Amino acid sequence: MSSPDVDAASLIVFLPRTALSPILAVVLIVFSVLWFCPGGLAWALSKAHACSIPGPPGFVTALSGDAAHRVLAGLANSLRAVDLMAFSVGLTRFVVSSQPDTAKEILNSSAFADRPIKESAYELLFHRAMGFAPFGEYWRNLRRVSATYLFSPRRIAAAGDHRRAIGEQMVADIRDLMAKNGVVEVKKLLHFGSLNNVMMSVFGKRFDFGKGEGLELEGLVREGYELLGVFNWADHFPLLGWLDLQGVRKRCRALVKRVNAFVGNIIVEHRQGRASGDVVDGAGSFVDVLLGLQKEEKLSDADMVAVLWEMIFRGTDTVAILLEWIVARVVLHPDIQSKAQSEIDSVVGTSRPVCDADIASFPYLQAIVKESLRLHPPGPLLSWARLAIHDVHVGAHFIPAGTTAMVNMWAITHDGSVWAEPNEFKPERFMVEDVNVLGSDLRLAPFGAGRRVCPGKAMGLATVHLWLAQLLQSFKWVPADGGVDLSESLKMSLEMKKPLVCKAVARC
Ligand code: HEM
Repeated sequence: MSSPDVDAASLIVFLPRTALSPILAVVLIVFSVLWFCPGGLAWALSKAHACSIPGPPGFVTALSGDAAHRVLAGLANSLRAVDLMAFSVGLTRFVVSSQPDTAKEILNSSAFADRPIKESAYELLFHRAMGFAPFGEYWRNLRRVSATYLFSPRRIAAAGDHRRAIGEQMVADIRDLMAKNGVVEVKKLLHFGSLNNVMMSVFGKRFDFGKGEGLELEGLVREGYELLGVFNWADHFPLLGWLDLQGVRKRCRALVKRVNAFVGNIIVEHRQGRASGDVVDGAGSFVDVLLGLQKEEKLSDADMVAVLWEMIFRGTDTVAILLEWIVARVVLHPDIQSKAQSEIDSVVGTSRPVCDADIASFPYLQAIVKESLRLHPPGPLLSWARLAIHDVHVGAHFIPAGTTAMVNMWAITHDGSVWAEPNEFKPERFMVEDVNVLGSDLRLAPFGAGRRVCPGKAMGLATVHLWLAQLLQSFKWVPADGGVDLSESLKMSLEMKKPLVCKAVARC
């Protein structure tokens, strides 16, 4: 990597011999000095331009690729910037931590309790939803209401029967697909199961995805995923914004109309149900809870659509994608699979189906989930970054307000100085040491940490544990002819690049 001083000096020597005008020459010199600053152009233009954070010069373009987590980890290692690395994407300043202590400092700091909002999220009205709402009273109110009525242990337990029924339906669908095709592509099944699971909690309603409303819902969700997952250059080069070269704004506006109509109709149905006395305040689905809010807690219809729609996004793909990775892993490691099946058989047997209450007796199955979260965290860069609300220090480093901060959880969970044999799939490590994955131990915090930690973590884990137990109790999972390809693709979440196709051989 060339040093800034050397590059600027060589330009000065070179320029007088060219035919460039003096003004252009000065502009070029200034630009190249800024460009070659550690952390790149956006850092050089900030009031921290003399900062000590190591980082690559110029612009980092890796965030637009599907291996951004790996590229950033590689850069941080080569620049000895694992604690904290500065970089620029267009005019946006970033820092990324790939080390548990700095990660903890960032995620737990109130200075980083905001999120940067990209154009797509803004256009989809997500600035009024919990995940992108600025840190403040509105956001706090949403967290409080959802913690009480959607994510509380009582609510999660109450949804156990629905969860189990959806899992049983998936098992039945897998049997049908195996009978028909001899192989099964699990991703679609998990996605629809997961979508219905969230729809039950949020709207109190399940959908048939082959036709009518279900087909429309599936189309809305697919388009939303794509738009939120797209790397939009206009987010980092403001002048490109009005051109909408990637068509993101146009697509978002078309989608918002459809979402408003779809979710708006469901809200009207629930409002009518409440008017006819069918629903008691505080009971029913989350939409009923929101409709029952009073006074300063009350939400407008537009805000309600944003909040409900976001839950569907956040709750669906993370769970489905994690389960697809887990199934891929149990296919690849038959010894681990049969150990988990023996655990299930010894507690439950094969004569009755597993249920939520059994999960506490499956420590090995829980260890498989943890190990999968470690090797394949659904949000390797913790999906949604944080934004510095005011100037702040991380360690000795000065971070100006408005800097985007990320944690590379993938880098931490693959770091040999943090985890022994980091690339091996070894659930046993969690049988020896019980690591908390809910945000208190930054060696493995796939749900983030601090004020903006994932509020759906317990619901997500309850779903993954139960469905994995159902899938393992019902089938022996073996590779299909094409084997298992563990290549990754980072979109909104870290997905399997090639959807898993395998065989599910009935056990009972
Ligand atoms: C395996 C499952 C899941 C994983 C790995 C996951 C991961 C994450 C991560 C990494 C964050 C960012 C945390 C931070 O900034 O510190 C997050 C935020 C969030 N998650 Fe999850 N999540 C999962 C399931 C769910 C579910 C089931 C829901 C809801 C139904 C949900 C709703 C949210 C929301 C609303 C936020 C934004 C919170 C805020 O900004 O205040 N997540 N999640």
